[in-house]
Amino acid sequence: MTDRPYGDGDGTFRAAGGVEGIQRLVEDFYDVMSTRDYARVIRDMHPNDLTISIDKLARFLCGWMGGPRRYKDKYGGIAIPPAHKHLPIHDSERNAWLNCMQEALDRQPYPQSFKDYLIEQLAVPAGRIVNLRQKIEQLDE
Ligand code: HEM
Repeated sequence: MTDRPYGDGDGTFRAAGGVEGIQRLVEDFYDVMSTRDYARVIRDMHPNDLTISIDKLARFLCGWMGGPRRYKDKYGGIAIPPAHKHLPIHDSERNAWLNCMQEALDRQPYPQSFKDYLIEQLAVPAGRIVNLRQKIEQLDE
């Protein structure tokens, strides 16, 4: 993407509403995941109690969007594809995850262009998770 209207500095973090806005987004994301049939498979990969999952994703997204590195402060360093390598995530699980995020974004008071931008950006690490998993499965064959 050549046009990065939100990508400079902490522009994305601020457009997402800072710590509070991102917390709301992630709570809505897991609410969607917990209620949609299409997301059952990925919801079942998570613990029943989502408190820590919500905290981790919200903190991670703060830093990922150019804001404070709140995940690192509490949980230490992380690389997203290897952090998921134990999970059977293929195209359909990635699509379900991105769909939940799309529905969660649609609940936020963000401009449509920002929602589109975030989904496009999130699809990048989501794709890397699937690629790594595929490589691991090929090595196991
Ligand atoms: C591709 C679809 C994805 C699926 C199905 C998925 C699923 C999961 C699951 C099941 C967990 C473990 C939760 C737990 O045990 O508490 C997890 C953890 C996590 N995910 Fe994802 N995820 C996906 C994509 C992403 C993306 C794109 C990001 C970031 C942009 C992300 C960020 C995280 C973080 C930060 C954690 C916590 C890791 C840790 O502390 O160990 N995930 N994910």
